[in-house]
Amino acid sequence: MSQQPQAIDFEKIRNASDGSISGMMSVGFKEVVMNNPYFAAGGGLMLLGTGLALARSGIVKSSGFLYRQMLVDLEIPSKDKSYLWFLEWMSKHKYRTSRHLSVETNVITHDNGAITTKFSLVPGPGKHLLRYKGAFILVNRERSGKLLDMTSGTPFETVTLTTLYRDRNLFNDLLYEAKNMALKAREGKTVIFTSWGPEWRPFGQPRSKRLLGSVILDKGIAESVVEDVKDFLTSGEWYHKRGIPYRRGYLLYGPPGSGKTSFIQALAGELDYNICILNISENTLTDDRLNHLMNHIPNRSILLLEDVDAAFNKREQSTEQGYTSGVTFSGLLNALDGVASAEECITFMTTNHPERLDPALMRPGRVDFKVLIGNATEYQVKRMFLRFYENEEELCEEFLKKYRKLNLHNVSTAQLQGLFVYNKRDPKAAIDMVETLRDPNTVF
Ligand SMILES: Nc1ncnc2c1ncn2[C@@H]1O[C@H](COP(=O)(O)OP(=O)(O)OP(=O)(O)O)[C@@H](O)[C@H]1O
Ligand SMILES: [Mg+2]
Repeated sequence: MSQQPQAIDFEKIRNASDGSISGMMSVGFKEVVMNNPYFAAGGGLMLLGTGLALARSGIVKSSGFLYRQMLVDLEIPSKDKSYLWFLEWMSKHKYRTSRHLSVETNVITHDNGAITTKFSLVPGPGKHLLRYKGAFILVNRERSGKLLDMTSGTPFETVTLTTLYRDRNLFNDLLYEAKNMALKAREGKTVIFTSWGPEWRPFGQPRSKRLLGSVILDKGIAESVVEDVKDFLTSGEWYHKRGIPYRRGYLLYGPPGSGKTSFIQALAGELDYNICILNISENTLTDDRLNHLMNHIPNRSILLLEDVDAAFNKREQSTEQGYTSGVTFSGLLNALDGVASAEECITFMTTNHPERLDPALMRPGRVDFKVLIGNATEYQVKRMFLRFYENEEELCEEFLKKYRKLNLHNVSTAQLQGLFVYNKRDPKAAIDMVETLRDPNTVF
């Protein structure tokens, strides 16, 4: 029987060494490690493992390096304006693959009062791939689980676009395309912004522009305001050279229903501007918030402060009922003065009671142009009649005759509109009903 291969060869050990213990150990070790198949395999595996680990970290490092060298990221936070534009653009973009969608429901109220609902499927949180002008772009929409936007209660989000370094210029094209697409949807419309916490948010859907010709003011009034605003808008250089803040305040005062608000809306349409409405008697509005809002008005917008007399009576902030406005009178004045924007700032204020306004609010710089929008004059009655009943010159004369006879003075244009709308297709019936204009509260 041959000797067992695993057995230790003591003879060999003795020959190879001087017989001491250390010699015995080294030979014993070699014998165990080299000749033992289990140990040999383990060593091989270890080497392989180390090699692989090294290779892996090498790949990770070099891919990180390549990533940094060859790819570019663009981050769009949800706070940014282009965020919604981008999502909207992406939902309409043909060449994309998304498996995560989220829905955005738009309820559209049409001019005739009908309501339709439109669902747009926008890219939801997750990864999406799209192809734009031949380049691949990876889109990652991420939601921050922890951070909440305190004003709206929605989580903060970011969209990160990644593409090859050489295609980085496409980001610019893409954002412009998204912006133009969003603005096109608003073309011919006026967007009304209202304050929402410390920021401005569109209020409802953009509205169709109101034509300037549809608001009939007394002779020359509309023209003079429009001319003044247009002149102001082209004088930026003049203001800057003289170091005067580039802003202009307008006050439209007069009885209710004389067309003040309607005129401002039509003017915004004419100038292609939006309207930011601020209600200063809202009791959650504070001086700080007012200041912040006034300094962050969206571009090309008119700031509209309705019923400015309602918030303050003789600088007092509270009424008999108690607290009315969170804004102090001096807070309002400071906010009006402090608007520090390079862009133009057009402020419109309206009131039914100009006599209640503090002179400090009316001084030049705060209010530069005051105009009375009064009750209907004969000129307005005639033009309104002819606007509702085109080419009915004779009937218009008849209507005016009766109107004069009744010696009506305090008829608002809103009342006239009410009468004409009630008798939409029947000017004769409108003539028969002229008496109803005597009472401003007639309900047809
Ligand atoms: N001068 C006008 N020309 C055409 N329509 C008018 C005119 N004045 C009022 N109207 C109509 O009357 C309604 C009320 O007008 P608007 O809200 O503009 O009045 P206002 O002056 O702002 O009133 P208030 O002082 O109560 O706010 C609108 O539907 C508007 O179309
Ligand atoms: Mg009004």
